Amino acid sequence: MATKVTGVTEGSPPSPGGGRTRRPFLLELYGSAVGKKYVMAITGIVWLGYIFAHMVGNLKIYTGAADFNKYAEFLRTGLLVPIVPEEGALWLMRILLIVTLFLHIMAAYQLTVMNRNARPERYQARREYVAADFAARTMRWTGVIVLLFLLYHIADLTLGWTNPAAAGSTPFEKLVASFEQPLVAAFYVIANLALGIHIYHGAWSLFQSMGWNNRKFNHWRRAFAVGFAVIVIGGNVSFPLAVQFGLVG
Ligand code: HEM
Repeated sequence: MATKVTGVTEGSPPSPGGGRTRRPFLLELYGSAVGKKYVMAITGIVWLGYIFAHMVGNLKIYTGAADFNKYAEFLRTGLLVPIVPEEGALWLMRILLIVTLFLHIMAAYQLTVMNRNARPERYQARREYVAADFAARTMRWTGVIVLLFLLYHIADLTLGWTNPAAAGSTPFEKLVASFEQPLVAAFYVIANLALGIHIYHGAWSLFQSMGWNNRKFNHWRRAFAVGFAVIVIGGNVSFPLAVQFGLVG
């Protein structure tokens, strides 16, 4: 049976008495396509914020090893201390990132299944669809590339599993040891370009998902999406290239 994709109460199963069993409001909302889009947008905003802050923090690569290591140490042991215990903020952030990433991927998958099962309908905002076409159509693939990148990135720089620097090396030494490998540097550049396409479309479409779309603001939405993607990805791509070209190391 085809699933209808809109409306907040459509996810409720009929009760034995013939009426509808009401689930808690948030679950009820999540049962609809609109609710899943909210989840994608809100979890996307969390990650956009993290990615932006992460890039800005990593700019300390350019102010020297001591600065960068001090910053890495601060994130680990100093953030929000003494309001929270040492490493408390780090773990809160990790939990938030893991939960939101999981919800983002689950909602994306379920929306795809819903759309596949639904009657094929044309996108309502046709002009916007055409403009965002390439990024929109490749969201799944850019998402997969970014996810693979993220797994490698954490194995390399946080866990040190794939990192050529000796155990006990500083964060800066690990970073340079990683980016000195041409294949790793190339992977970073490609993955970050994929991330750029992904967050360009994400930053554009989250307004639509949240219902904050008005044609009058579309040029601001576009400027925000392009500006955000270019700044974050420009910074991120510059790091492996700076090591490859001997500017940092
Ligand atoms: C060239 C760009 C990047 C550089 C130089 C960089 C640098 C780093 C470094 C040095 C760490 C390890 C921190 C530590 O454990 O001491 C780290 C961790 C991490 N990075 Fe990146 N990163 C980059 C891009 C990204 C991107 C694009 C994402 C997300 C899509 C990302 C997400 C993360 C996450 C989730 C962690 C783990 C944080 C933790 O739990 O400790 N990074 N990054």
